[in-house]
Amino acid sequence: MKTESDRIASMPDYPFARWGEKVRAARATGIDVIRLDIGNPDLPPPDEVIAALRSSARDPGTHGYPGYRGLPALREAIAAYYDRRFGVELDPTTEVVPLLGSKEGIVHLSLGILDPGDLVLVPDPGYPSYTMGAVIAGARVHKFPLLPERGFLPDLDAIPADIAHEATMIWLNYPNNPTAGTADLEFFTAAVEFARKHDILLCHDVPYCEVTYDGYIPPSLLQVPGAKEVAVEFNSLSKTYNMAGWRAGMAGGNRDALKSLFRVKSNIDSGMFLPVQEAAIRALSVPHDWIEARNAIYQARRKIALDGLTALGWEVPASRATLYLWARIPEGHDSEGFATKLLNEAGVSVAPGSFFGQGGEGYVRISLTAPDERIAEAMDRLDGLFKQG
Ligand SMILES: Cc1ncc(COP(=O)(O)O)c(C=O)c1O
Repeated sequence: MKTESDRIASMPDYPFARWGEKVRAARATGIDVIRLDIGNPDLPPPDEVIAALRSSARDPGTHGYPGYRGLPALREAIAAYYDRRFGVELDPTTEVVPLLGSKEGIVHLSLGILDPGDLVLVPDPGYPSYTMGAVIAGARVHKFPLLPERGFLPDLDAIPADIAHEATMIWLNYPNNPTAGTADLEFFTAAVEFARKHDILLCHDVPYCEVTYDGYIPPSLLQVPGAKEVAVEFNSLSKTYNMAGWRAGMAGGNRDALKSLFRVKSNIDSGMFLPVQEAAIRALSVPHDWIEARNAIYQARRKIALDGLTALGWEVPASRATLYLWARIPEGHDSEGFATKLLNEAGVSVAPGSFFGQGGEGYVRISLTAPDERIAEAMDRLDGLFKQG
């Protein structure tokens, strides 16, 4: 009996699912593990968002199939957010698709666009779903490096012309997971130019656009004039409003690509639970003060972590955005071995850089998703571990 396609056989388990098992095993031996590995916000969403969910869930009329396209009011709220925040106009009917979290949209767009054998350009290191979407679609992947000396921005001109010519899609993600690199409009303009020149669909993923420090305000790629002709942008409520478990996200931009995404989705999922849609509508108009107050909490944690890591002699730049610090590890370790040592010997769980591709080897990613005192405790434990030698 066949129980696995060749495509799925070629796909590794989701690395964080595997790591979760390691954390469980460490906890089972009695270790009090401080989890700084996944980007899972530990703070609650705004009160009014929870209130909107509760009140909608009490309505007996909200429990049926919610429809495929999302409420017009949700699509309008997404378009209004893009207009207010980025000055980008999106037609709520044709240029916006609500998603059950951006991850499914990333993979389903790949299924909607790619034929077996097509070529996809993917950053290394990068969020794993860009590659996995291509693998599920039976496409091939060409990885391009994100290097510290370039601020983790790719050198698009260094992608060989024949590869660029052959490619169907390219993925970018700024503010970047895992490196915390950021991009300005000049870079996005060059990326749109690259996509246009090589006739490639440019996919940008921007879930960290509201998790920022020191007053930094990231742009949307869709701000580049004409971007919608070649680009789609994914965004998410997960990190912006601490709603990771609610599964609410969005795609905006090129209407033909979004039509393919919608056709895949409408054959696979049956839309977003109506109370979650009502809550998402509410979230998208939460005053910016709420986001700033939340970011101040992350920024204080960032300082505790940076002070601790710098005292250990680690090389860690202060991120301008994202939930992460991207730390180079001491020579003589591989990143998974090093992260396993921190887990088992200090009870501090960080993400091995290799989970994001070969280009992440030599790094670990540290999430700021635990309270001040737990991050301080993690730093003390690392200090103890490395003092012991
Ligand atoms: C770069 C990036 N894209 C997409 C996602 C998926 O977010 P969600 O599916 O919760 O919207 C994540 C989650 O960590 C991410 O880091």
